[in-house]
Amino acid sequence: MEEPGRDKGSKVAADIEDPNPGNRDTTTVSTKSARGYPLALWIAILGLIMLVGMYIFSLSLQQNGMIFGLMQTNMIEKEREKPCHNPRISDTEIPYVHYPTPNTYDRKECACTAVRFFAILSMQRSGSGWFETLLNSHENISSNGEIFSVKVRRSNVSTITKTLDKLYNLDWYSSAAKNECTAAVGLKWMLNQADVLARYKPTIDKKLLISELKRSDKLAADSLTNFKNIRHIVLYYEDVVRNHTKLIDVLDFLNLPKTKLSSRHVKIHTKRLCDHIENWADVNSTLKGTPYQSFLNG
Ligand SMILES: *[C@@H]1O[C@H](CO)[C@@H](O)[C@H](O)[C@H]1NC(C)=O
Ligand SMILES: *[C@@H]1O[C@H](CO)[C@@H](O)[C@H](O)[C@H]1NC(C)=O
Ligand SMILES: *[C@@H]1O[C@H](CO)[C@@H](O)[C@H](O)[C@H]1NC(C)=O
Ligand SMILES: *[C@@H]1O[C@H](CO)[C@@H](O)[C@H](O)[C@H]1NC(C)=O
Repeated sequence: MEEPGRDKGSKVAADIEDPNPGNRDTTTVSTKSARGYPLALWIAILGLIMLVGMYIFSLSLQQNGMIFGLMQTNMIEKEREKPCHNPRISDTEIPYVHYPTPNTYDRKECACTAVRFFAILSMQRSGSGWFETLLNSHENISSNGEIFSVKVRRSNVSTITKTLDKLYNLDWYSSAAKNECTAAVGLKWMLNQADVLARYKPTIDKKLLISELKRSDKLAADSLTNFKNIRHIVLYYEDVVRNHTKLIDVLDFLNLPKTKLSSRHVKIHTKRLCDHIENWADVNSTLKGTPYQSFLNG
């Protein structure tokens, strides 16, 4: 960043010094030109100082923007430059909205639709697939599923950022792509990918049960700690099942028009929990009297 500054300064200085050798060569210097010369020099130096000063000033402004203001100042500038300042977007919201320009098509009439980027972080088997279908029933939301389930896309940081860039630039094609103006685009990221969905009636290892439950608790708690400085909302499956108005909170969070969300997702496990587990008696006795006892009522 400093290099171009120096280059520019020295280039300007060289231009000004150029006439000097000629002036020095003349042995007789008239008083007139002697008086005139310093004046011209002063003006030149003043101009140079102002130029370099302005340059350094603008440089430090740029650096402040990057170091202290992070992305926010830049984005506010970007937003102000837009011919289509969206009056629905308040100043505090500006850092959260984007105006993507996809490489693969022209957003045309949607060009001024502010887009919010989101990610759903979820535990396995927590109803996030169903939750996504609810989101995608909104005309302005595009939630693209577990795009990182494909190994090559998460093989290293550059493939991850490339995939995210493509998704958030609205260049990602999936069944979640919208014909309407997308105003919120995101994906789903599983916190614990390791567990394979077991459709069969599992036998639960009672020796590991408590430690596994504790591990899951810790994973969720750690994730919340890691993302505590990022704007987020926490949803519990049970709350969404019990209370559909909970989804209004989600649309509020994404600042989207409130419409009724629906899903054609079919619940697979419709029986009581005790009918889905082979060794229920073991599980019952293991969890009894622990903080996880309420899970037995599922
Ligand atoms: C990242 O992974 C991709 C695909 O596997 C590969 O083509 C690329 O060279 C890798 N880049 C780095 C920096 O390792
Ligand atoms: C949702 O999409 C419709 C249809 O494309 C568009 O007119 C509207 O502005 C969008 N809503 C938001 C909040 O962006
Ligand atoms: C349902 O959720 C809404 C929004 O979070 C809340 O205001 C309301 O009190 C909840 N109703 C019940 C019965 O829990
Ligand atoms: C757990 O076992 C006890 C008997 O030890 C029984 O009374 C209770 O109903 C069982 N709970 C469930 C949820 O099956």
